Amino acid sequence: MDDTTPVSELSEAQAKVEILALAAQLSSANAAYHTNDSPTIDDGTYDALKRRNAEIEAAFPHLKLDDSASEQIGSSPSDKFTKITHAQRMLSLSNAFDADDVKDFDKQIKGFLGLSGDQSVSYTAEPKIDGLSLSLRYEKGRLVQAATRGDGETGENVTANALTITDVPHFVKTDIEILEVRGEVYMSHADFSKLNAKQTENGDKTFANPRNAAAGSLRQLDPAITKSRPLRFFAYAWGHLSKPLASTQMCGIEKLAELGFSTNDLTKIFENIDAMLDHYSAIETQRASLGYDIDGVVYKVNELALQNRLGFRSTTPRWAIAHKFPAETAWTRLEAIEIQVGRTGALSPVARLMPVTVGGVVVSNVTLHNEDYIEGRDSKGFPIREGRDLREGDWAKVYRAGDVIPKIADVDLSKRPDGSRHFAFPKLCPECGSDAVRENNDSVRRCTGGLICPAQAVEKLKHFVGRGAFDIEGLGAKQVEQFYLDGWIKEPADIFSLQTRYGSGLQQLSNREGWGGKSADNLFQAIDGKRTISFGRFLFALGIRHVGENTGKLLANHYGSWPIFRDVMAAISTEGSSDWEELLGIDGVGDVVAKALLGAFGNAEEMASIDRLAEKLIIEDAEVSVSDSPVAGKIVVFSGSLEKMTRAEAKATAESLGAKVSGSVSKKTDLLIAGPGAGSKATKAASLGIETLDEDGWLELIGKV
Ligand code: IVH
Repeated sequence: MDDTTPVSELSEAQAKVEILALAAQLSSANAAYHTNDSPTIDDGTYDALKRRNAEIEAAFPHLKLDDSASEQIGSSPSDKFTKITHAQRMLSLSNAFDADDVKDFDKQIKGFLGLSGDQSVSYTAEPKIDGLSLSLRYEKGRLVQAATRGDGETGENVTANALTITDVPHFVKTDIEILEVRGEVYMSHADFSKLNAKQTENGDKTFANPRNAAAGSLRQLDPAITKSRPLRFFAYAWGHLSKPLASTQMCGIEKLAELGFSTNDLTKIFENIDAMLDHYSAIETQRASLGYDIDGVVYKVNELALQNRLGFRSTTPRWAIAHKFPAETAWTRLEAIEIQVGRTGALSPVARLMPVTVGGVVVSNVTLHNEDYIEGRDSKGFPIREGRDLREGDWAKVYRAGDVIPKIADVDLSKRPDGSRHFAFPKLCPECGSDAVRENNDSVRRCTGGLICPAQAVEKLKHFVGRGAFDIEGLGAKQVEQFYLDGWIKEPADIFSLQTRYGSGLQQLSNREGWGGKSADNLFQAIDGKRTISFGRFLFALGIRHVGENTGKLLANHYGSWPIFRDVMAAISTEGSSDWEELLGIDGVGDVVAKALLGAFGNAEEMASIDRLAEKLIIEDAEVSVSDSPVAGKIVVFSGSLEKMTRAEAKATAESLGAKVSGSVSKKTDLLIAGPGAGSKATKAASLGIETLDEDGWLELIGKV
């Protein structure tokens, strides 16, 4: 097929491929023309592409895309990719750094499953490819969608680009109606060198490492550019499946290979941890000669039935782990130590380094954590770097492992300049001059300026508009800073009244540095598009200390809606009240989180600022679990010993069915599962009239017998 094939002769599959390619070409041409003011194709070619697109749409109306180019007037709505919600989340892996971590992983798995030490679990071990993950969705054997991982829940639609990768089959012969294949897009060392040589020749920017080159090449708006880049793909996992692919990880991989995917031939099965660790060493020995970057070895439980029982933590599976290779190191000069003030007031020292390449990237800043770290002590007061302090002018050893943030491993005292002095950590906030204090064994010194500290206010705003929070396109860290300096945005609520207050003034935005060709209208549209937000995300966006994405979700799921939560927070004035007990009873919410919430919501000014924001938004109630299980949405407490599964597995199972597991019985508890020795919890449940089941009753209720 090529674009001269008459439309009447196109098969449906060919039409789909062409429509996707045209969509990407047209959107890239639109972006170049309207957004960057630098057309990449002439008007005649543009019109021909548009005509061809319209003809195909007329012949195959059901293939017309939601954001079809034929319905766009002028510029495309966004210069980025469309978003795709993954049918099954794309997770990351927890890390092991040494053999003991791997043995712990095995122990935890056995503990969770209730196996004795001499019962073995088999694992697969395979290289961890240093690229970027991609999910390929096949429907009735045809590739219909390709998405990057994004934040794990939503990724970028890179279908047209993925179709240009030779290792990605357009069609597979399978009776699995919906098959999501997952794997890594990467670039080989040889291709990376060639690409960089070509970039240099053309005066274009070169890539720091093959991973960046692969990511930059896949995330091109014009698939023709992706096509010209030699990308490869290893399949190593799967997402949503309309029927099972296999019963073990290894057979699943073999099935993918049979379907035409490239799979890694260093993937092996092990029954024994020592042999698996030997395989790790063997792969590490071959690392330099493989021809592509790897940054560790991934171990996965081989039996899928066991994977299923083990399930997931919030962002990582319990049944897999990445055993990382040791970090790469490099020596460089520590030129200066600067203090940054974060959104929670933490004074964070940052070392400015003479730029040095470590693990394939140039490092010029590293965090020094806190004043104890600079002095050579850890949080418990034990020496680090054998107690050597860090000073401006020192020679420092920097290390970096894969995606790990670079750190300082050591300092060379023999090269310390004469007359160097201990670093004097400031006792006042360098941004607002307020006292900076250390409280109750906290190793972090914090500015006490609260909302009057401009650094805290700006950092809070940056967090608010950032990824995982409101994620407002066109309003990044730089822009927020500018608006704050102008006095146009002082707190999050101001973002949502920007148009009413400064709409006309903002039309001149495009003249300002950092705004490129973005128009004020696009910004207002993007802001308006984010007025509706899920409750959990809203809580995370507030930037309260210790309330991360996961805790935001936990709180949202527990309280259900913002008004309910807000009222509870307004009423929790004292620790020890029943609302306080309820908050602490939420599994995953400890004393630290509860106190942080109290700190934020108990502060009248902060509460008023949050109210001003909430007023301008639609905060969606937490999703009621779609699960039709009889325990969805119920608060369940386990007590006493269980015989058929471990407490950890019972809890994870209950949560996967939509129940909320709490550690203590209160009048809100719906169900107590009491094993032998349930004791005081059973007595309390009985006095409150709470339904109580034994383990068998519970298993029967959830259909596990
Ligand atoms: S399995 C649910 N296997 O590593 C687990 N991941 O740090 C799915 N990666 O996001 C991942 N090689 O991008 C798996 N052989 C391999 C891998 C691999 C590279 C990447 C993947 C993942 C990241 C987690």
